[in-house]
This record gives sequence, C-alpha cells and structure tokens, in this order.
Amino acid sequence: MDRTSESIRRSHVSGAIATDQRPIKTSVSSPSRGKTREAEIQSAGTPAGKLGIQQLYAPIGEAMADVDRRLHEQMQSRYEALAPVLRHGTQLGGKRLRPALMMLSGLAVHARRNAVISGDASAGVPEEVRVMATVVEMVHTATLIHDDVLDEAESRRHVATVNARWDNQTSILLGDYLFAQSYALAATLPTTIGCRWVGQAAQAVCEGELRQVLGREWLEMDEETYLDIIRGKTAELTRVSCQLGAHFAGGDDDDIAYLARFGNDIGIAFQIADDFLDLWGDDEHVGKTLGTDIKQGKMTLPLLRLLQSEDPQVATEARRALRDDPEQRLSAIMPLLRNSDAIRYTREKAEWFRQSAVASLEHLPQSPARESLRRMADFAIERRF
Ligand code: IPE
Ligand code: IPE
Ligand code: MG
Ligand code: MG
Repeated sequence: MDRTSESIRRSHVSGAIATDQRPIKTSVSSPSRGKTREAEIQSAGTPAGKLGIQQLYAPIGEAMADVDRRLHEQMQSRYEALAPVLRHGTQLGGKRLRPALMMLSGLAVHARRNAVISGDASAGVPEEVRVMATVVEMVHTATLIHDDVLDEAESRRHVATVNARWDNQTSILLGDYLFAQSYALAATLPTTIGCRWVGQAAQAVCEGELRQVLGREWLEMDEETYLDIIRGKTAELTRVSCQLGAHFAGGDDDDIAYLARFGNDIGIAFQIADDFLDLWGDDEHVGKTLGTDIKQGKMTLPLLRLLQSEDPQVATEARRALRDDPEQRLSAIMPLLRNSDAIRYTREKAEWFRQSAVASLEHLPQSPARESLRRMADFAIERRF
C-alpha cells in the first residue's frame, strides 16, 4: 500500500471499533514508515486494553500454558528440514481466543455445580477440553495460513506469513498438515463428538471463505449475505469452541445452546471489528497485513452500507471507486466512507452482536469465568489487535 492511501486510511478514525470514544492519550510511532502519529488509544481506557488480554485468561492460566505445550508437541517432525516451517505458523503469538473461549465456557458451566475458585481454576478444565482446545487452535491456524494465500497477505502475528517467507505451495501444504494433524488428535479421545463438531465447523469456515471468494466484487451483495458469510468463516469456530466447553463440562441442553449462541455472536462481532480494523487499524499494532479487503474486492459492512447510501450520487461514486484498479481503490473509497454514516453503522452492528452475546451469558451463574467471557465480548469490538 502506498503512503498516500495509508495516510488517507488512517486519517479519520484509528483502530478500535468501540462505541465509547475517548480522547487522544498517546503517540504511536511507526518506525518502519518513518513517521510518528498522534493516535487515540481507545482501548487503553477499556477493560481489555487496560488489563491486557492475558488478564481475561486469569481463571485458565495453567490450562492455556498446557495447550501451548500441546501445540508445540503436535508440530514436531522427524524431518529436520520441516521444523522451521512447522514452528513458524503455530508456535508464535496469536491471541489463542478459541481455546480461551472453550475453557472459560466450560468453567462457567462448571460453576453451576461446583465451588467457584477465584484465581487460576484450571484444575476444572478436563482433559477432553485441553485436547479439543489444541485441535481448534490448530484448525484456526490452518485456516489463517490458507487465508493469507487467498488475501496475498505478507504479515501475520507480527511476522512474515508462510506464503511471504516461503511460498504458496508451502502454505497450502502446511495448512493441510495442520488440518490432518488436528483430526488425528481429536480422534484420540474416546468420544467422536469433538471431532464431528469441529469437522462440521471447519466445513462451514471453508464454505464462508469460498462464498467470499466467489462473491468478490459483487457490489449488490446484501447485508444478510455478508452476515451469513462471516457467520460461517469466523463465528462457526468460536461457536463450536464455546459449545464444546459447555458439553465437556456436563452442561445441559440450555447451557450448550446459550453458550453456542454466545460463541456465534462474539464471532460475528469479532469479524465486523476485524473488517473495521482492515480499513482503520494500525498495521503494527494489529500485527498483520491490513488494507487487503478492498484490494481483494471483499465486500465488508462499511462498503455495503456505502453502496446502499440513500444519496444516489454517493452510491454511484462508490461503485466507480470500487471498479477502479485494485491499487487505487482504497484512496478513492476512504473519503467517501469518511463522509458517510458507514463508520457509525458498522460500530452499531458490532455493538448489537456484543450485546446479544452478553445477554446469552445471563443464563449462567455469576463466576470469574462468566465475567471473563463478558469482557471477551467487550474485547471483540474494542480491540486494536
Ligand atoms: C484472525 O483471528 C482471523 C479472524 C477471524 C478475523 P484472530 O484475530 O483470532 O487471530 P490470532 O489467532 O490472534 O492470530
Ligand atoms: C477471516 O477473514 C479469515 C478466516 C476466518 C479464516 P479475514 O481475511 O478478514 O482475516 P484476516 O484479517 O486475514 O485475519
Ligand atoms: Mg485475510
Ligand atoms: Mg480481516
């Protein structure tokens, strides 16, 4: 992305999608672009930003470290030449949201029948959940490695993507390797339900990604279709994570259904925020290549809103801008977005799904795990990374 489009992209809003706007507090330097900009660090004032995402994981500290160890174990190869490739995609960074959602969902259900432990309650995270959390994180990582090929992205989790550091062939095979390894791991459990549910969710992720690829530059796409695509590509994995946590904690049908709905809604809110970050996020903070959605002809909510503008002239200009050369689109579309209600509308939609997610938690008893889930829903839309 050239400097001009970059500065246009950043000139209006920065980062988080939070409806709660706070004053400018910090200056963020972007050394690789050789510039310093004053930026509003909205999340600095929010629970997730202030305490850091690790604080939301306080009830599951040991179990999260255990999943990291298991991920590491899964990615060993007898071929020395493969080691750096395997290590690259899996052992670095990542927020590990899906394992956290699974474990916290389980503990939130567990709290109904067991004494609530404050601090690290990892002892209440059963073996099945530790295995399935590892499985889901591997499936998620596989989808990211493949997604970076589709989006021609160059950075992910603050390092070069597999396609940038190696090539597309390596990415395809590493993604396949991770998919295969995850189902082999899921099959080590005496029950097949985890393997089946994650398999169905991964199929829905692929359907979502496929529908998105086939819907590129489809300027007539409606909001319902967009929401259904992101439900598949993103919310299915967060939904199945919560659902599995509730299931293995011995939850009843209601517990499982409410937590599945929580997982679905947080996933949709998370992806709307992700699409927002793609336009207005800070690449260095987010740690992945941004600005690719418009270039790739991906229809996201701010664009759909702009294209459906009541002012026919705005809608026509937007259409023209989106038919421009991929490299020019961003700089043509950003001023139009800035002058429209697309930002407000996108924030409101994300907030709607956050609230819907939080409402599903009311069914569960008060517990530190439930509180962490609630704050993860805040994080989903306030996040800057
Ligand atoms: C990125 O997911 C892909 C989307 C669904 C938007 P995350 O933001 O959870 O990725 P990592 O695991 O933290 O890198
Ligand atoms: C999410 O879509 C990708 C998957 C769910 C696999 P994006 O393409 O927006 O994700 P990022 O922004 O590359 O992480
Ligand atoms: Mg992508
Ligand atoms: Mg994105």
